[in-house]
Amino acid sequence: MIHGKELVEPIVIKLGGSVITFKDNPYTVNEEAIKRLAGIIYENYKAGKRIVLVHGGGSFGHVAVSEIDEKKGILDAVDVAYVQYRMLQLATIVGKAFINAGVPVTIYPGHVLCRKEARCNFDLLYEDLENGLVPMTYGDIVYDDRGYTIISGDDIALWLSSAIGARKIYFVTSEPGVLDEKGNVIKRVSAGEQVVDLGGRGYDVTGGMKRKVDAALEYSSSHDAEIRILDINGLEKVLRGEEAGSVIGGDKAKRRVGRGSRK
Ligand code: IPE
Repeated sequence: MIHGKELVEPIVIKLGGSVITFKDNPYTVNEEAIKRLAGIIYENYKAGKRIVLVHGGGSFGHVAVSEIDEKKGILDAVDVAYVQYRMLQLATIVGKAFINAGVPVTIYPGHVLCRKEARCNFDLLYEDLENGLVPMTYGDIVYDDRGYTIISGDDIALWLSSAIGARKIYFVTSEPGVLDEKGNVIKRVSAGEQVVDLGGRGYDVTGGMKRKVDAALEYSSSHDAEIRILDINGLEKVLRGEEAGSVIGGDKAKRRVGRGSRK
């Protein structure tokens, strides 16, 4: 029981920008991947699972930031507004595909939910979840009189999970999991593990696989959650109850669930 009502425990799924867009190709979406994801989410939604979606920036957010950064070295208010617009554009494309598949997605821009220093409020999103909708937010950029901050969708997914008490957190990436030097999926990644960083392909202003793993490891050291990094096939499998991808941390996790408006 969370927030006064009986609620099936929510699952938080982060759709990586490298999955839903073609990361090397500015402002292009991977329609096929989005459609497949929409089908998978629909099947699970229909089966009664409660799902919250977070998506990344891919060739929309990352390209918009890199392009401006290369040209001017600094983003001003109108540049920030432009990046926010590009992210919203991507969200509406993803949202439309999911709605077409029968998933009642409601879109919450990241900059509406979160301010700097991880000050987020997920109350509205939680309310939608309680009402049987599938709320979706995304990595975004926020601005105030001291400048801008890019908030990664990975961080939002973790803060959100803590706030709503989600104990299943799946990061969908273009890789089947975290890979070792030989390219094999590491089944469980524990603190101190050597992670091969596959960054450097396409644009990425928030840090790639290594940062994702580090953030997930840190989260798992104080939260009881099953965190996985996997690809679309892996997502389909774990939602069916099968094994897939890399489990991050969790070996000596402490329980800390609950919700609040901050992280
Ligand atoms: C980035 O979000 C958002 C912006 C660049 C504005 P993410 O960091 O979550 O995006 P991906 O998943 O790595 O593409």
